[in-house]
Amino acid sequence: MTVTDIRKGLVGVIADETAVSKVNPETNSLLYRGYPVQELAATQPFEAVAYLLWNGELPTPEQLAALRATERAHRALTDEVRAAIDLVPLDAHPMDEVRTAVSVIGAQDLAGSGSVMDASGSAEENLARSIRLFAVLPAIVAYGQRRRRGEGLIAPRDDLDYAANFLWMTFGEVPDEVVVDAFNRSMILYAEHSFNASTFTSRVIASTLSDLYSAVTGAIGALKGPLHGGANEAVLHVFHEIGDAENVSSWLDDALARKRKIMGFGHRVYKRGDSRVPTMKAALDTLVAHYDRPDVAALYDALEAEFVSRKGIYPNLDYPSGPAYDLLGFDTVTFTPLFVASRVTGWTAHIMEQQAANALIRPLSAYSGPDERHVEGYVPDTAAIDVSERPEEAAG
Ligand code: CMC
Repeated sequence: MTVTDIRKGLVGVIADETAVSKVNPETNSLLYRGYPVQELAATQPFEAVAYLLWNGELPTPEQLAALRATERAHRALTDEVRAAIDLVPLDAHPMDEVRTAVSVIGAQDLAGSGSVMDASGSAEENLARSIRLFAVLPAIVAYGQRRRRGEGLIAPRDDLDYAANFLWMTFGEVPDEVVVDAFNRSMILYAEHSFNASTFTSRVIASTLSDLYSAVTGAIGALKGPLHGGANEAVLHVFHEIGDAENVSSWLDDALARKRKIMGFGHRVYKRGDSRVPTMKAALDTLVAHYDRPDVAALYDALEAEFVSRKGIYPNLDYPSGPAYDLLGFDTVTFTPLFVASRVTGWTAHIMEQQAANALIRPLSAYSGPDERHVEGYVPDTAAIDVSERPEEAAG
């Protein structure tokens, strides 16, 4: 292998095929199982999109009702999971809390399962596990925000759909329909995006025949980073730093002089704009009007216009979703956990797809360390084993 064969960051590498979603940067489109994400966001509840990602088709009314019944039955936090969350320090990032909670749920669910040889589970078991995680994550995220504010847990409400119940458990009230709708759209837009870093992480873990919970836990760790899911939270910090639209130009002079990455802009795949942004921007506009916050729109527009004209780098989904979640009333640190609650649907769809046609994911590396050398004074007590015929890297 020569150094020129290396694709650092796996840029441009097609690692496998997937039927879950298609990202097309040329046409600026994103399809979930063939459906444009904009159409899904405009017409579907998030539960129906979750069903689509897992099963390949949109649900019939009966199938949607059945999924909703199961989802409602698994919304509540158990005392044990709540106790596990309470062990996480209040000043730790809530992504650590979400990761811990999913790990504990997995350990409880798989308790007594014995050998790791059985860990990967059947397709039916993993679909049931996916639905249970999807159902309980809003309670984990909502409780995380509430306990940081010194507020108590709010029990789920069976008369509310997913999005409205999520907001109810977080804030103790159900906002206007337009607000619930904007939140529902954001959940749909975040749900799936092919082989992004966290999804790929989940597939790597699934490819070892480990269990679904381990794969989701690893994916949460990958999503936490500011180059991936953490960017929506970072966007709000940028907004706070700038303060007002009229400061954008001078703030940007300084940030670019210091070679800072401007959070919420740029994308590994989309180089001419993220296909999800117009839909999320429309949802943000709805919230700006509802909460009468033209200052947010002014700052948003000013930073976008200035950065695009200077660098030709366009906003990604995190750019409109950060201020949208802020207007909805979520604390900034809760933004990336919201991303988890949505993306768990895509992760689990990919985990099941990986398991259905598995090949262990194990790339090679080009060695760049010192030439072979030996520990001073070491005398081998057996004849040297000739390894010269082995391939460049042994397994492991
Ligand atoms: N601010 C300033 N410069 C940027 C930015 C940005 N946000 N994004 C890219 N660039 C520059 C970068 O400095 C580089 O310039 P040069 O060639 O002069 O060194 C060039 O554009 C190419 O950037 P790159 O980092 O090599 O591109 P990439 O495809 O590896 O990175 C990215 C994509 C998303 C990591 C990057 O654009 C970035 O760090 N953006 C900010 C973080 C962010 O918003 N992440 C959310 C991504 S979308 C949601 C998600 O998937 O979770």
